[in-house]
Amino acid sequence: MKTNSGFRKDFSWGAATAAYQIEGAVREGGRGPSTWDMFCKKPGAIWRDNSGDVASDHYHRWREDITLMKRLGLDAYRLSIAWSRVMPSGTGHINPKGLGFYDRLVDGLLKAGIKPWVTLFHWDYPLALYKRGGWLHPDSPKWFADYTRVVVDRLSDRVSDWMTLNEPPCFVFIGHLYGTHAPGDKLPLARALRVQHNTFLSHGRGVQVIRERAKLPPRVGIACVSHSKTPVSLGKADIETARQSTFTTDTPASWSDAWWMDPVILGRYPEDGIRANGKAMPKVTRDEMALMSQPLDFLGINVYQGGRVRRGANGKAVEVPYPVGNPITAFKWNLAPDSLYWAARFYYERYRLPIAVTENGMSGTDWASLDGKVHDPQRIDFLDRYLSALRQAARDGADIIGYFHWSLLDNFEWAEGFKERFGLIHVDYPTGKRTPKDSYYHYRKIISGNGKNLPKYRPMYR
Ligand code: GCO
Repeated sequence: MKTNSGFRKDFSWGAATAAYQIEGAVREGGRGPSTWDMFCKKPGAIWRDNSGDVASDHYHRWREDITLMKRLGLDAYRLSIAWSRVMPSGTGHINPKGLGFYDRLVDGLLKAGIKPWVTLFHWDYPLALYKRGGWLHPDSPKWFADYTRVVVDRLSDRVSDWMTLNEPPCFVFIGHLYGTHAPGDKLPLARALRVQHNTFLSHGRGVQVIRERAKLPPRVGIACVSHSKTPVSLGKADIETARQSTFTTDTPASWSDAWWMDPVILGRYPEDGIRANGKAMPKVTRDEMALMSQPLDFLGINVYQGGRVRRGANGKAVEVPYPVGNPITAFKWNLAPDSLYWAARFYYERYRLPIAVTENGMSGTDWASLDGKVHDPQRIDFLDRYLSALRQAARDGADIIGYFHWSLLDNFEWAEGFKERFGLIHVDYPTGKRTPKDSYYHYRKIISGNGKNLPKYRPMYR
């Protein structure tokens, strides 16, 4: 039985992946193409023109991967379903081989004592639907609801933990405004905000379907990317400034957490964001805001780093750059465990929903050494720092229900292709060979003690 180490006794220790990033087999088993299959064919779109065609070959190696998860001691595994593997054209025809793959995967996980947490949409949108208008189409919420029904009808006798969408601002803005993720569009802001609005309506319709049709009592959430602000000191003024700044939307096309969380949790777009977007705001109705803000059972947060702020002379937030020499990962992201502490606290205080850290991890320049092992001391230190920060947030009152390390396996990192390695398990891409990294064994120890052997939380900078 787990000890109450500061983490709940029923805390879920997990790892996370996403279909397009690990499965491969893009033209096997009846799968239809997604917008990422299309985007990867665009010259120069992806680092060294990599693609998810084979990825981590999980579609063929899923049994071996479950064995590795079991040895790791995971309670839970966050996976996403490839919409176009289940419904090749996005609507209509249901592909029995596609559903069958996830059937077997879920059964294998449960047999290994691992609870599947399912993300319904993690960016790999059916190409056939994109060609019909995609998230801009007024029927897009219905399409998503129909897809959700197919998956829930098949898996909800065994799956009880659901997330509708993964990181809406990424696929909405990077994919439809900046054009550097699939589908690669650079829409006017008004149309990108319509994409956002329709994905929120889709989220609401998806939650309704899960509630209506799930066979096991469901726990439903959404996985949001975190753009929280971290105070540079424990001074009341800096903390309050960081809290306010985390939820301020003072520019158009904002990534602010309030802009992307308030509508689906509180049922309203933040007033400052409506003003900032001005005429680009879609016309919304009260019914639509009610639809998108269906009650949730948890808030999933994907936290890697955060901006640092202090209270300026005029009372406004002043961004404080990370100090020169602050540790950075291979992706050039800052090592910023304080961001996880404050994100968990600020979100819990504002939304009063149990928090699941649905992603947290780092990219490393990991390779297999001559001894055949993959030594990744930075990821070990990363785990200790971030998890001790998370435990402290739990001790300081945030209700944290789980942690999913990103990622189980080295995988296809979107526009960066295979350049970035986030896995606890190294993947040799030409052969598919899996090698647990040193951090895999370290995480196993942390899990086995429910976090009790983590070091004391030490904030990095005051
Ligand atoms: C995201 C996605 C993941 C990424 C991971 C590392 O947060 O961007 O959910 O698919 O691979 O976060 O960038």
